[in-house]
Amino acid sequence: MRIGILGAGNVGGALGRVWTSKGHEVLFGLPEARGERTRKTLAALGSAARIGSNADAAAFGEILVLTVPWPAAHQAIESSGDLEGKMLIDCTNPLAADLKGLTVGLNTSAGEQVAAWARGAGVVKAFNSIGAGNIGHTDFAGLVADGFYCGDDAAAKATAKGLIADAGFNPVDVGPLRNARWLESLAMLWTDLAVNQRWGTDHAFKLLRR
Ligand SMILES: NC(=O)c1ccc[n+]([C@@H]2O[C@H](COP(=O)([O-])OP(=O)(O)OC[C@H]3O[C@@H](n4cnc5c(N)ncnc54)[C@H](OP(=O)(O)O)[C@@H]3O)[C@@H](O)[C@H]2O)c1
Repeated sequence: MRIGILGAGNVGGALGRVWTSKGHEVLFGLPEARGERTRKTLAALGSAARIGSNADAAAFGEILVLTVPWPAAHQAIESSGDLEGKMLIDCTNPLAADLKGLTVGLNTSAGEQVAAWARGAGVVKAFNSIGAGNIGHTDFAGLVADGFYCGDDAAAKATAKGLIADAGFNPVDVGPLRNARWLESLAMLWTDLAVNQRWGTDHAFKLLRR
């Protein structure tokens, strides 16, 4: 597929690497002035890294993937142009600056806010409930980490499912987009364990069913 990725940091860079290794074509949408992490991602990707504006990424991608810090999400979407009919995967988490809580939640979510901003797009929440370092490294002693996703657009969800599998995860559909509220809470738990409980980054969630 042709994939536009807004942002090329921890998440965008890791997704770009794993998807290009699977034969997908990626174009990163980025601001003109780029930070250190972005420069490292682009250097590591070498000639596989195509770069443009957010509008270029949206025009290039059959699907657009939002991997920017939450405070930049609105601007990133606004600058992508008309997203009517476009599929969009939202990876963001509205984390508080001290990583001890969420700034959006309970009766809405970043995913739902993104869908309101990206009017007419089929939005799927995915890749938010695990640390970026695990993207492409999803084996945990023989168990594959789950890649939870939710959304209201069946076609976008089917496409996202394939891309989640291509990133090495076991895709798990957890329902409508409003369940982004709980995927973002799950991300908060992952982050709290990693940072505040000092577990580090080698953990993942798995849903068991009988
Ligand atoms: N880190 C994780 O483990 C993880 C896991 C799951 C979900 N998330 C969520 O995923 C999102 C990205 O996290 P991250 O750790 O990848 O962040 P990051 O490393 O800081 O990367 C963010 C990227 O977005 C770019 N960016 C900033 N503003 C932009 C804009 N308006 N348009 C386009 N690109 C823009 C940044 O460019 P410059 O830096 O060059 O300005 C950078 O390339 C966050 O919402 C985070 O909560 C993170």
